[in-house]
Amino acid sequence: MANALFRTKSIDRLMADSGANSDSGLKRTLGAWSLIGLGIGAIIGAGLFVRTAAAIAERAGPSVTLAFVVAGIGCAFAGLCYAEFASMIPIAGSAYTYSYTTMGEFIAWIIGWDLVLEYAVGAATVAIAWSQYLNKLLAILGISPVPYQWSHSPMEVSTTGVQGLMNLPAVVILLLLSLVLVRGTQESALLNGIIVIAKVAIVMMVIAVGWGYMNPLNHTPYIPEATTFTTAQGVTHAYGGVMGVLGAAGVVFFAYIGFDAVSTAAQEAKNPSRDMPIGILGSLVICTILYILFAHVLSGVAPVEFFRTAGKEASVSQAIADFMPGYGWLSNFVTVAILAGFSSVILVMLLGQSRVFYSMSRDGLVPKVFSDTHPKYRTPWKSNMLFFVFTSLFAGFLPDSIVGEMTSIGTLFAFMLVCAGVWILRVRRPDLPRAFKVPMVPVVAILGIVVCGAMIYGLGWTNWLRLGVWLVIGVVIYSVYGKKYSKLANDPG
Ligand code: ALA
Repeated sequence: MANALFRTKSIDRLMADSGANSDSGLKRTLGAWSLIGLGIGAIIGAGLFVRTAAAIAERAGPSVTLAFVVAGIGCAFAGLCYAEFASMIPIAGSAYTYSYTTMGEFIAWIIGWDLVLEYAVGAATVAIAWSQYLNKLLAILGISPVPYQWSHSPMEVSTTGVQGLMNLPAVVILLLLSLVLVRGTQESALLNGIIVIAKVAIVMMVIAVGWGYMNPLNHTPYIPEATTFTTAQGVTHAYGGVMGVLGAAGVVFFAYIGFDAVSTAAQEAKNPSRDMPIGILGSLVICTILYILFAHVLSGVAPVEFFRTAGKEASVSQAIADFMPGYGWLSNFVTVAILAGFSSVILVMLLGQSRVFYSMSRDGLVPKVFSDTHPKYRTPWKSNMLFFVFTSLFAGFLPDSIVGEMTSIGTLFAFMLVCAGVWILRVRRPDLPRAFKVPMVPVVAILGIVVCGAMIYGLGWTNWLRLGVWLVIGVVIYSVYGKKYSKLANDPG
């Protein structure tokens, strides 16, 4: 039993299995700037344009900016660890692959299972955000919006008492993008570039224009007095004070998710050992600066009460429309650009999900159906369709607060394991060449674990419970399936 849990895949075998060193592998075309672009394309999305307002309303008021600082620091530590792994094991598969070589099959399974929360449930969260902004766009175009009951989960009720049934637009965008993946994406660098520029442009415009519309009263007090807030689903948690900031950090941490997606492109990087750390940390630094300024402006433009009522959905467009007279065009531009921006984030997440399960399936830890490829398109189309069904259940029937916080807590947990993994590998395999080395190990690894752990703590017991249940389900599946069918178990090489 113990052997099964701790068997590791050697780095040599990993590289051989992936074809990373052979000419038949993926083409190496991405430079440092392309990687930063890839990172920003995957990062800016629902976290900033939906979850920030939720963090202001339900957790921290204007001190959401401090929450972005905390989350940014946690990501920087984890990002350094990701960069070391990516420069040492430059192949696709992200945290799952890294942990298979360092901490053994069981932890690798746990991470792979946990990454479903990051990628699949994360895609569902962004799809819900897409649905909110779609209704905004329809209103701009003078078309009647999708009725409340068909654009909200059964756990939501409108201010006029209409009960949600299912979030249909969220399911539709997931279906469309899953079909794009089935067809096979030639991830168009040009299209990604345009979307990245549009996203950064709207963030900068909101900061520049909104700066003049900030009302100092909305920033007073900057850190609200510690009290509690009860959500629409009846969950009570901290609001204000230190716990408010920590909880908000857990919520807005969602906005940073995606920089690790850069590491999944290691096999396509021209010079992975130099460019991966630049790509990962560069996109992280740019986004952190933009996020702090953006959150400062958003919380200064409108009062907390607005984000609990009229500005609860499509909050950024709504705040511009209501509090920045004369800038209706900016509100419209934000709506259109962010719909495209959300689509690219969903695509990256669904793609990341299918890549991780593809690797796990090739390793025998999940059924073969996840690595069966389409005879014509050569994509894992069955996996794409199964994950469409899975993500639709989350997007269609749960509110964004629940799926968003599940994504955050799951990803934070994976980051903690990656930080631990770097430290473990330094001790076990000090001999391996590392093109990029995290400075001051184990201090940085420990700080990463502590800061991510603090955010998990801030997210509160309902989220701990959800993560716990998810992990228990994972352990059961590993015991009855993965342990038995693992390729490594049957062919230790
Ligand atoms: N960071 C991505 C977003 O905010 C997941 O949408």
